[in-house]
Amino acid sequence: MLVLGIESSCDETGIALYDTENGLLAHTLYSQVEMHAEYGGVVPELASRDHIRRVLPLTEIALNAAHKTLQDIDAIAYTQGPGLSGALLVGTSFAESLAFSLQIPTISVHHLEGHLLAPLLEDNPPDFPFVALLVSGGHSQLMRVDAIGKYELLGDTLDDAAGEAFDKTAKLLGLGYPGGPALSKLAQTGKPRFKLPRPLLNSGDLNFSFSGLKTSVLTLTNQHQPLDNETKADIAYEFQEAVTDVLTTKCMHALRETGLDNLIVSGGVGANAKLREKLNTAAQRKLCRVSYPRLEFCTDNGAMIAFAGAMRLKAMQNGGEKNYSFSVKPRWNLSELQAP
Ligand code: KG4
Ligand code: ZN
Repeated sequence: MLVLGIESSCDETGIALYDTENGLLAHTLYSQVEMHAEYGGVVPELASRDHIRRVLPLTEIALNAAHKTLQDIDAIAYTQGPGLSGALLVGTSFAESLAFSLQIPTISVHHLEGHLLAPLLEDNPPDFPFVALLVSGGHSQLMRVDAIGKYELLGDTLDDAAGEAFDKTAKLLGLGYPGGPALSKLAQTGKPRFKLPRPLLNSGDLNFSFSGLKTSVLTLTNQHQPLDNETKADIAYEFQEAVTDVLTTKCMHALRETGLDNLIVSGGVGANAKLREKLNTAAQRKLCRVSYPRLEFCTDNGAMIAFAGAMRLKAMQNGGEKNYSFSVKPRWNLSELQAP
């Protein structure tokens, strides 16, 4: 079965074709990051309008790259939420109307389920059950994953998400948007000179809190005005150390608590090289395995949506929905999902 996947929940239009027999055939992405950089963050109305411009040409590019036509598509999967409502509406209405014209089923996908399953797109994927660390711009969660749609929340952030903390700290250091990649690049030249707190490191649970860390960075930057490049790099270094220390420690706790020996990491912050280095070392010590998506599938993309849709479609008794009515779910808790 050939599934077209459509992602438009935020500032990336992602389109992909996943074949349940032959795997990922094509994926295309347009990132609006340059357009939003001018404003220091995503402007929802601009995002929706740009998705409208991109969705059709990207679909044509993906079809051509896979040497397929519209008639070859068996089902269309799209991100129904969570995300920006206008942006979600573009992908959702495009998917449902295209499916209606082709009289094929649609599968609405939870964006975080897409992220969660993205490591399974790689060779030698881990088996269920596993622990998942989902660290994106909007979420920092630890989950136990038993099967598609069977997700148990083990820990969550009490305030800012890890990616959000990277973005806000980067802003404090004058690094522009999105901050995560810029901050981690700067951190490479930094040295261990400052000491920042490791929030909730020993809290005994699996929750996170990152907003205090951002406040500590603010205090540091105020103390060292005007900030020279060396100081900026040293702050970036310590900030990244603090976040990755907390994430790594909590992942190891989660493996211990669940008794599982497989960890997967996904979401934009999962692209962070320091985090990967620390997780690999800690997991090796515990004889556990860590799996990641390739770097381009850590951040938003269509491949993870096509894949999650294909997995759900395979498990569905009715062969997918064909009613072509649609709504979006800008707020949608992953724990509300059910197995297909
Ligand atoms: O998963 P994603 O593309 O979008 C959401 O669903 O939120 O994640 C984007 C987040 C941003 O906060 C970005 O700064 C962060 O991931 N990010 C990184 C890195 N690459 C992206 N954070 C730290 N290090 C990176 N290399
Ligand atoms: Zn995302």
